[in-house]
Amino acid sequence: MISVAIDGPSGAGKSTISRCAAKVFGFIYVDTGALYRTIGLAAFRRGYDTKDKSLILPMLPELNIELKYNENGEQRMYLDGEDVSSDIRLPEISMCASNVSAMQEVRNFLTDMQRGMAKKYNVIMDGRDIGTVILPDADVKIFLTASLEARAMRRYKELLEKGVNDSFEEVMEDMKMRDYQDTNRAAAPLAAAVDAVTLDTSDYDFDESLRRVCGIISEKTGIKAAN
Ligand code: DC
Repeated sequence: MISVAIDGPSGAGKSTISRCAAKVFGFIYVDTGALYRTIGLAAFRRGYDTKDKSLILPMLPELNIELKYNENGEQRMYLDGEDVSSDIRLPEISMCASNVSAMQEVRNFLTDMQRGMAKKYNVIMDGRDIGTVILPDADVKIFLTASLEARAMRRYKELLEKGVNDSFEEVMEDMKMRDYQDTNRAAAPLAAAVDAVTLDTSDYDFDESLRRVCGIISEKTGIKAAN
């Protein structure tokens, strides 16, 4: 099986680029942030302080988290049988996800699910620690990044399109906090693997970013784009 690990900070375009690149190569796209978001959502719904380990850890064995693909090949997340793929995208869930993801036990809880996907399928998997921890032997490792301003602007536009009216300043502040938290935590902090190719997309539009990512994948794997 071939695995491509794409890591980087929030809003670097990882998910859209990874999804499209997976289509290009005929691979499965695995969005690992969605797993942390599902745990964050479960805690949020219970009214828990998502930084409180004494509440989060006992909750884990009670959760039934499933990652499935619909007929269009889109990843869907299920929490106790309910499709929560939309709810996990709510802005208030982002920080909950970041909080629970800082706990080593939460990360351990999700490790097998992620590795299992890469064992079964050719994958493009995006996250924060895919190249460093989850798939250290990935065939391709890309660290996708962009300036804070560029990332916040992209996320702001994305939210506007979804009808969420947070101000640009709020979006940037939230991103800054998550960057700080994701980079400075003790458990699997956001970092480029030593053997990753770093791609800064601040000055690239989507098409150019995708073209470059696909170029790196082709070059490293010798596989030509299928679509
Ligand atoms: O990629 P995202 O914004 O959907 O991720 C939500 C949070 O989950 C993010 O703040 C960091 C965390 N995360 C992580 O710690 N490790 C991953 N592999 C993916 C996400």
